[in-house]
Amino acid sequence: MENQEKKTECVVMKDGPYMIKGNFKIIDAQGTEIESADPAFLCRCGHSNNRPFCDGKHRDKGFKG
Ligand code: FES
Repeated sequence: MENQEKKTECVVMKDGPYMIKGNFKIIDAQGTEIESADPAFLCRCGHSNNRPFCDGKHRDKGFKG
């Protein structure tokens, strides 16, 4: 169906980021919408140089969770 809204999913990836897909917006602390891909990968380890997005640094840092 064309007009059917996409379901939103947030998946906690093992030892990695959150993966968000579907119908979502990412808003920064100032209330501005940040453009993102779908799916988007959001940093969960705190080490990304491109927060809120994951840049793969969790692997170098040995993030577990
Ligand atoms: S989760 Fe990937 S850099 Fe933080």
